[in-house]
Amino acid sequence: MKTGVYPGSFDPITMGHLDIIIRAAGLADNLIIGVLKNTNKKSVFSLEDRVNFIERVIREETSLTNVTVEAFDGLLVDFVRNKGASLIIRGLRAVTDFEYELQIAQMNHKLDSGVDTVFFTTSVEYSYLSSSAVREIASFGGDIRPFVPKCIVQSVYDKYKSIRSV
Ligand code: PNS
Repeated sequence: MKTGVYPGSFDPITMGHLDIIIRAAGLADNLIIGVLKNTNKKSVFSLEDRVNFIERVIREETSLTNVTVEAFDGLLVDFVRNKGASLIIRGLRAVTDFEYELQIAQMNHKLDSGVDTVFFTTSVEYSYLSSSAVREIASFGGDIRPFVPKCIVQSVYDKYKSIRSV
């Protein structure tokens, strides 16, 4: 049984993340999406929202049965080990991601030699996509429909409406 962990901030989940989730769920017997309880990186969406969005997307927009969503803090390798997993899944959009991702993957392998990182190259149509771009577009009321799963579009807009009204 191979268990993989796909970690990230998911602030919020994008179509690029969903693409990686679907493909990684075909590689691992069980896939755990690990949502970082950001301590030094401030997220716009609460941990609860980020977890709920992913759960809703998996339930409503896929037929995947081997994917679960969990929050984690502390070191990723500790979370991976505690879950009995041995694979970390990450997406690579462009060469600009590579240097950072390589360093983290090597560091994680050094911290726990039983953990390997597997990279999925992002599908071309999502290679330019990031959560930060989605946040920027949503904050100005732009059209985020091509970039985030359908069932969370309104929730993302609602968040920015509530931010604007305070
Ligand atoms: O979606 P992101 O923000 O690119 O995800 C980054 C993430 C969660 C993979 C990374 O920040 C992480 O693993 N954080 C946990 C702390 C840790 O283990 N750091 C790596 C050791 S150098």
